[in-house]
Amino acid sequence: MEYKILSSLNTSNAVPSILVVPLFEDASYVKNGPKEAETLLKNREMQKDFQAKQGEIMVMIPDQKNLPGKIILWGLGEKKKLTSQKIRGLSAQLARAIRPLKKGEFALWCTDAMGSLAQALGEGLAFGNYTLAKFKTGKEQAELAEQTLRKISFILPKPLAKFEEKIRKGLMIAEAVGETRDDVNAGPSLKTAEYLAEKSRKIARENGYSIRIFDKRELEKMGMNGILGVNRGSDIGAKLVVMEYTPKGTAKNPPVVLVGKGVIFDSGGYNLKPSMSLFEMQLDMAGAAAVMGLFKLLKKTGIKQRVVGIFPLTDNLVDAKSQKPSDVVTTYSGKTVEIINTDAEGRMILCDAISYGVKQYKPRYLIDVATLTGACMIALGDRYAGLFGNDAGLTEKLRKAGEATDELAWPMPIHPDHRAKMKSKIADLRNWDEVPHAGASKGAAFLQEFVGDTKWAHLDIAGPAFVKDPKPYDSQMGTGFGIRLFLDFLENLR
Ligand code: BES
Ligand code: ZN
Ligand code: ZN
Repeated sequence: MEYKILSSLNTSNAVPSILVVPLFEDASYVKNGPKEAETLLKNREMQKDFQAKQGEIMVMIPDQKNLPGKIILWGLGEKKKLTSQKIRGLSAQLARAIRPLKKGEFALWCTDAMGSLAQALGEGLAFGNYTLAKFKTGKEQAELAEQTLRKISFILPKPLAKFEEKIRKGLMIAEAVGETRDDVNAGPSLKTAEYLAEKSRKIARENGYSIRIFDKRELEKMGMNGILGVNRGSDIGAKLVVMEYTPKGTAKNPPVVLVGKGVIFDSGGYNLKPSMSLFEMQLDMAGAAAVMGLFKLLKKTGIKQRVVGIFPLTDNLVDAKSQKPSDVVTTYSGKTVEIINTDAEGRMILCDAISYGVKQYKPRYLIDVATLTGACMIALGDRYAGLFGNDAGLTEKLRKAGEATDELAWPMPIHPDHRAKMKSKIADLRNWDEVPHAGASKGAAFLQEFVGDTKWAHLDIAGPAFVKDPKPYDSQMGTGFGIRLFLDFLENLR
């Protein structure tokens, strides 16, 4: 979305067709509004009808010259209660209210209070412009396209520090998150391993990152049998994508390594999922998608930390060649795993990617992000990711980044007994314990076997990655969860 920063309503002789005036409940309208609209805003009738409660929106059609065709009063509630979380949601709702007017643009009057909230404001406005229109056709598609907002003019009666920088950043982040949502929502026959690997190559090329994409044959040579075992039922070869962002002067620093689960479609394999659990299983690459989405933003937001993104990409399907329960797999680490349940495939592809990250990069931190267990979703619902790890400092940093971005993560335990449950009678480990209790913790405990003494955290995003009951700035289905959390985490690393 384009934007413009103006100092008054009437610059370049063009009065905008829609002007939004934000108003607080606890301040007089007139003082806060633009001079040009003063008489209108003084109107007593209006003051009765519109109380500037949080989220209240009123459209007015002034019959005066030199005024916009429509003035929208936008209630922000009590000034001291307005947080970045709130403005992100409110501005998404505002954009959604303006879209049906089909003007494609509007102007927003910005007062002092918007200065510190500008990034969240930008994010919210762009999120509000996001729709699930990608696969629509005909009338409905045309209608949604006509409603698209293309430009917002921000009117600053007084200059606000770094306002433009923050707005640009907010818009850019939300647009990258929107593209990630589209990837997560897309059907598995479109977003194949091949397709996502190519997309990653494009991101790397555009930003000057180095990238390696290992194909099935290379994975065979390397002994990545965790990934290959899951891939056996698919006629599309698995890929392992490794991307590196090395800003100036950091080539010798140990990187932060982010590992994302990229299961293109999780049928469960021979432990086939029931119908009601199958139909949304294109979501199972949301971890990989979050890492990809983050890489769209690392350079553009000027992150100063060296970051490596690693994500295995494969389907988990049923075929005569598929891996079977009771198979034993020798993973890239050398450890053997007894496959008890072919539906516990995420940990089988992640363990190879994690071992590779540890061995190749000796990371400062290794964080994996995965739609790993339904158990985590049952425990925490869709507002919190499960947060596990072996380093209190790292998990606290991630928890804080979650709070700051409203991508919340709740600390969860790994008990030595959970690790004990993942031992096998005939192999080093098993991938599943038939007792369903503490499924999220046991999944994390399995992954921990592959990190050694690397400082590690695991985010189980099965709940918040794909939702039925979206937050005000989200949409149904894929949310792009994790990108904003990781950006904030990386920005605040010293
Ligand atoms: N991809 C699923 C987890 C999942 C479920 C994500 C629902 C999002 C929504 C994972 O591979 C899986 O199948 N987990 C099993 C447990 C596993 C230990 C057999 C599950 O959740 O039932
Ligand atoms: Zn599964
Ligand atoms: Zn899965």
